[in-house]
Amino acid sequence: MKRVLKWIGIVVGGLLGLIILLGAGAYTVSASRLNRTYEVTANFTLNVPNDPESVAAGEKLAATYLCGECHGENLAGQMFVDDPTFGVVYSANLTAGENGIGAAYSDEEIARVIWYGVKPDGSPTVGMPPEFHQAIHISDMEKLIAYLRSVPPVDTDYPPSSYGPMLRVMHATNQFPLIPAERVDASQPPLDPISPEETLAYGEYLSAICAHCHMADFAGDTAMFGSPNITPAAIGTWTEADFLRAVTEGVRPDGSLLDPKEMPWETFSRYSDEDLQALWAYLQTVEPVPVEE
Ligand code: HEC
Ligand code: HEC
Repeated sequence: MKRVLKWIGIVVGGLLGLIILLGAGAYTVSASRLNRTYEVTANFTLNVPNDPESVAAGEKLAATYLCGECHGENLAGQMFVDDPTFGVVYSANLTAGENGIGAAYSDEEIARVIWYGVKPDGSPTVGMPPEFHQAIHISDMEKLIAYLRSVPPVDTDYPPSSYGPMLRVMHATNQFPLIPAERVDASQPPLDPISPEETLAYGEYLSAICAHCHMADFAGDTAMFGSPNITPAAIGTWTEADFLRAVTEGVRPDGSLLDPKEMPWETFSRYSDEDLQALWAYLQTVEPVPVEE
């Protein structure tokens, strides 16, 4: 994987402090939590379109939500972790090919995985970030699924996931959020669509993916993720044009470059000017957090 999404960052960060904590107790706690089933009580029905504009909008959503980062560019899944201490985890094949979830799941079942981290049999997903995906409103979810339904089928034959001792210890000691379904509110209904005309609300909506790396308060985490502070305390003196250039071309106002393997600006160049203006307007309203020296 080329980029360090939070998931991997936490694994590596957590590893350093945790080697001493290994123990059978932790294994047992983790096993009971992994074997639990979860129920999504939020009620919703989807109306998935299949017109070309909706599919194209869904493709942009999949790109900007970085699904391909973990599921591979063809969305057929890939080896995610394969390590004796962490275990073996493959991200799922999202296509309609053999062993893909595309052919096996209904639209609502796919949405429950993405929003709540719960599979159709009630078992929790491991490694999916539904806490960020809960921000996807219902109409965008319909377009995202329209796109998933349109990708070419790929056959795969991955081994079943297994979780190694290190991952289990980290999970049992709550150092690592192995099971997002434990934390997301499965009674929370999907969000209503937001119109791009509601600039600030729409900017906040789009910023969910930025929070994935720049943290919920946008103050960044340079130590673990190398992500800088993007609150007004840090970039408040930038102009809108400076911001657009940084986010879509990877060039800071001083001319220095952002690493596309760290900050996905190539992908974000897919945003429209309207999207970027809304993001900028919203980020200017967030609480300024002083930049750590
Ligand atoms: C940080 C990495 C990551 C990102 C980003 C990510 N996924 Fe996943 N996803 C995974 C992993 C790992 C699994 C396997 C989970 C498991 O088997 O428990 C998975 C599983 C799934 C599953 C199927 C789970 C099952 O029932 O077997 C679906 C559907 C899915 N992802 C859709 C998406 C979509 C759509 C996006 C983008 C909006 C996305 N994912 C983004 C890592 C990711
Ligand atoms: C996958 C993680 C990731 C995501 C998602 C992400 N960023 Fe970044 N961003 C970074 C990292 C890491 C850097 C620093 C890159 C470097 O120094 O080369 C960065 C740098 C930046 C900078 C430059 C700040 C400065 O002072 O140098 C801006 C502005 C920025 N990101 C805005 C955004 C916005 C807006 C979004 C959402 C649309 C976003 N980022 C999403 C990881 C991410």
